[in-house]
Amino acid sequence: MSRNKTPLKQMTLNFGQKPQKCLKCPDCGIFYNPNDKEDTQIHLKYHNENEKALKYTANFKAEKTVETFPDAKCIVIEAGQDSKQVLNKALVLLNYVDMQLGITESNLNVSTMDEADILIKRMNIKDSTKFYLYISQTTKRIVGFCMAEHIDQAYRIMYLNDQQRTSSFTYDETQAPEKVKCGISRIWVHPSMRRQKVASKLLDCVRLNFLYIRSLELTDIAFSDPTHFGQAFARGYFKTNSFLVYNSTRN
Ligand code: ACO
Ligand code: ZN
Repeated sequence: MSRNKTPLKQMTLNFGQKPQKCLKCPDCGIFYNPNDKEDTQIHLKYHNENEKALKYTANFKAEKTVETFPDAKCIVIEAGQDSKQVLNKALVLLNYVDMQLGITESNLNVSTMDEADILIKRMNIKDSTKFYLYISQTTKRIVGFCMAEHIDQAYRIMYLNDQQRTSSFTYDETQAPEKVKCGISRIWVHPSMRRQKVASKLLDCVRLNFLYIRSLELTDIAFSDPTHFGQAFARGYFKTNSFLVYNSTRN
C-alpha cells in the first residue's frame, strides 16, 4: 500500500494588486498590499492570531526545560502529565502549526476543559505524546515546535521519482516494518528562523528527553507523512535518503 503527499505551498493573499506593491511581513511571512485597506486588515487579523499563538508567557509554573542554548531554550509539555491549562498552550500551537501545514483551516476553541478533552481525543493525542517548544530568549516567542508520539513500527521511505527533490513517496507495507520508539508527528520552525539548526536542536532534545531510561538512537525515530521540507530536513538530519516514515492516523 502506498501513500502520497502533495507538496504544500505557502498561501499568498492576492486581491489583484500589482506584485511590486506587496510586502512580505517579516513576522508572519504573509504577503499583503499596505495600500489596500482590506488586504491590510486581513493581514493584521492573521498577524495578531499568529502573535497570540506564538507568544511565550512564562506562566507555566511547572515548566520543564530540556535544554538551554545561548539565545534560546527548549521546554517540554507532556500530554499525560501536565495540567490541562499547560496542555492547552500545546494544543493552540498544534492548531497553529496545522494551519501552516494546511492540515486544518480553522482555529480550534479550547476555551473550556471539556472542549480541550474532545480535541485531545479527536486529534488522537495519547498520554505518551510530548510537545517540544523552542523559545527565543530575545523575542520571547515560540519559534520552533515538535510533537513526538510513541509508535512501534515504521517503514523506509521509497521515492516515486528518481529525483528525490519531488515530494511523492511511498512505502512498502508488504515488507516487514522496522521497530522504532518515537514518531515525529509535527515539526515546524518559524520562517525567519529556518536553516539555523532550530529543527535539529528540537530533534536533539526529543532524543534526549522522550524516553526516561535512555536517549533515542536515530534509528528509533520515524517521520509522519513528511512534507517536501520535512523530507529535506530528515535527509539532512538522519544523513540518509532512506529514513523511516509512518502514518500517524494508523499507529
Ligand atoms: N532544503 C534542503 N535541505 C534542508 C532544508 C531545506 N528547505 N531544511 C533543512 N534541510 C536539511 C539541511 O541539510 C540542513 O542543514 P544545513 O542548513 O547545514 O544544510 C539540515 O536539514 C538541518 O536543518 P535545520 O536548520 O535544523 O532545519 P530548520 O530549522 O530549517 O527546520 C523544517 C526544518 C522544520 C522542515 C522547516 O523547514 C519548516 O518548518 N518547514 C515548514 C513546515 C514543514 O513542512 N514541516 C515538516 C512537516 S513533516 C512532519 O512534521 C513530520
Ligand atoms: Zn504579519
